[in-house]
Amino acid sequence: MNFPDYRPRRLRKNDILRGMIRETKLSVDDLVCPLFVTHGSGVKTPIASMPGQFQFSIDTLVGEVTKIRDLGIPAILLFGIPETKDEEGSGAWSEDGIIQQAVREIKAQIPDILVITDVCLCEYTSHGHCGVLDDSEVDNDATLELLARTALSHALAGADMVAPSAMMDGQVCAIRDVLDEAGFGDIPIMAYAAKYASCFYGPFRDAAEGAPQFGDRTSYQMDPPNGREAIREIALDVAEGADIIMVKPALPYLDIIRMAKDEFDLPVAAYNVSGEFAMIKAADKLGWLDGKRAMMEALVSIKRAGADIIITYFAQEAAALLR
Ligand code: PBG
Repeated sequence: MNFPDYRPRRLRKNDILRGMIRETKLSVDDLVCPLFVTHGSGVKTPIASMPGQFQFSIDTLVGEVTKIRDLGIPAILLFGIPETKDEEGSGAWSEDGIIQQAVREIKAQIPDILVITDVCLCEYTSHGHCGVLDDSEVDNDATLELLARTALSHALAGADMVAPSAMMDGQVCAIRDVLDEAGFGDIPIMAYAAKYASCFYGPFRDAAEGAPQFGDRTSYQMDPPNGREAIREIALDVAEGADIIMVKPALPYLDIIRMAKDEFDLPVAAYNVSGEFAMIKAADKLGWLDGKRAMMEALVSIKRAGADIIITYFAQEAAALLR
């Protein structure tokens, strides 16, 4: 028995002591802020299920990104909502697509923030799936070329990093090859490596208008009960040339974040997704918990689990508290 010689409470006596022995410290440098960009001008449409988040047109987006940069947040992750959709999702790689225009504008106006682009087709396809269809199935290999074309168009527009999220087998390899051939060997890939078929993407699908029109994503995104399979999924992306590996969602998958950190030596990103954000906002609004404290506790737990990078809709609010 250690008691009464060892008393853990001794080091919890006051905030100075607690601060000295605090194991995990959240920093503004850890944060990436996701943003939704749409066509039009002067647009700043609130997203009902994500209080404080908006769809921006490019002109209003520039102001928002300036604010984000001024808070010291190092990077943004861009999602586009195209004006029209088609079977193939051609808006995803069009030279004057919404993302391509937004990236060019941001890089021209605010060169000192890192611009990461989501590479997927679901916001651009009329059926809302992350790849092209063969009958009613998502055709993996036919989709690879389109994802690679999309990533290349982002790089050509000036993106600093691409983040493929479609969960097609071989997508990292296909993108790496095309980027390298085109002279973009220095553009890193942040791979959505262990991405689960999660209900926590619900609010995002309203925000990005990319909900599947039939079926769901269970044939390409991971099955939530599977942990060991995440090691295989991540190992594949690493072998294909991923520079950063991502686990998504974050809070219901902290065990997977920890495993990714222990098993691999690449930086680990975690995506604190729309539903995780919405839950805290909803409970705060109802007065059921303290939203600010819940936010900070959730974010530090994601870092404690092993995340080096946290993609979160809380980025601006958290950064303001961390300054
Ligand atoms: C695109 C994509 C999704 C999210 C990020 N990229 C939606 C999905 O896979 O259905 C979800 C992000 C969030 O919920 O915040 N495939």
